[in-house]
Amino acid sequence: MKYRAETRRYEDMEYRRCGESGLALSALSLGLWHNFGQEADSQAAKAMVECAFDRGITHFDLANNYGPPPGSAEERFGRILRESLSPYRDELVISTKAGYTMWPGPYGDWGSRKYLVASLDQSLKRMGLEYVDIFYHHRPDPNTPLEETMGALSHLVNQGKALYVGISNYKADEAKRAMALLKEAGTPCILNQVRYSILDRWVEKDGLLDAMANRCGTICFSPLAQGLLSSTYLDGSIPQGSRAREDHFLKQKMITPYRVQLLNELNTIARSRGQSLSQMAISWLLKDERITSVLIGARTTAQLRENIDALSNTAPFTAEEREAIDRVSERWG
Ligand SMILES: NC(=O)c1ccc[n+]([C@@H]2O[C@H](COP(=O)([O-])OP(=O)(O)OC[C@H]3O[C@@H](n4cnc5c(N)ncnc54)[C@H](OP(=O)(O)O)[C@@H]3O)[C@@H](O)[C@H]2O)c1
Repeated sequence: MKYRAETRRYEDMEYRRCGESGLALSALSLGLWHNFGQEADSQAAKAMVECAFDRGITHFDLANNYGPPPGSAEERFGRILRESLSPYRDELVISTKAGYTMWPGPYGDWGSRKYLVASLDQSLKRMGLEYVDIFYHHRPDPNTPLEETMGALSHLVNQGKALYVGISNYKADEAKRAMALLKEAGTPCILNQVRYSILDRWVEKDGLLDAMANRCGTICFSPLAQGLLSSTYLDGSIPQGSRAREDHFLKQKMITPYRVQLLNELNTIARSRGQSLSQMAISWLLKDERITSVLIGARTTAQLRENIDALSNTAPFTAEEREAIDRVSERWG
């Protein structure tokens, strides 16, 4: 049956502006790093994208290397667009990135102009798009002048292949330099995409949010610490199908009995707030207005729905709750 988007899709979602730009993102964005590659269940992938859009998520985040194999998440997303979401293209913010290994030889990685320009062309072909809304440099490159990398991003905006540009995994000092270069080029940096969660607080130690000074937005990835901040591991087991089962990006050795106990302590706080652990992890990030969007991953529509429902609990965190969460986070190490 032909997909028709939910007519009330904008009623319950919050939209936050990316820094000083005119672009607003849904407070939750859907990431396609896992569960959208060639080996993923195609019906489940399509159902998640449609469910997200029906609930007001406008932003879908990809990268050249998402899969496996690399490139296959973009191909699958392209198919989903053609099958259902293409009539809504102007309501979507589609992002992709380049910065990690994509093809062999010296031109398929890092941050040269040669790599970034070729990579975006490949991404556009895979997704069947004329332009992406946001193109990111995926990680800082210590061996390429930042002027060259930022110059390549600007060039792609001027060519019309990206509407906006962003950076990812840039620390405060590098981010400030990148922002200055992009501003000077007339193509401001609108987002820095960084790992941030209750359990991973480097952003706070680095002073990143202050450095962005609301001129550039911040979008957080792995808000559930790849699923640790959910009900999945609370009983200490590692269920079939879970990310830790793959023991690749989320290592089983991280899930010690002591850490399971800490997750249960967080879960108790979440329950007292009337939330699941994953919902509290999302609300905890969104309480900071400097966070533009929280970039969630999901394997099933049930997980996605549970995460989106976090937005219906707008109870502020009390000082006691914040302190209790901070204490667990410090003990996590
Ligand atoms: N810029 C970068 O360098 C970078 C790096 C990483 C990610 N990202 C982006 O950020 C996105 C999100 O990252 P992430 O996938 O690590 O985020 P995440 O939301 O922390 O983890 C997603 C995983 O958590 C589990 N999960 C989600 N909701 C759940 C729920 N309600 N109940 C139980 N488990 C739940 C699922 O794991 P199971 O499969 O175990 O069920 C899911 O695959 C990526 O897709 C990508 O777009 C960017």
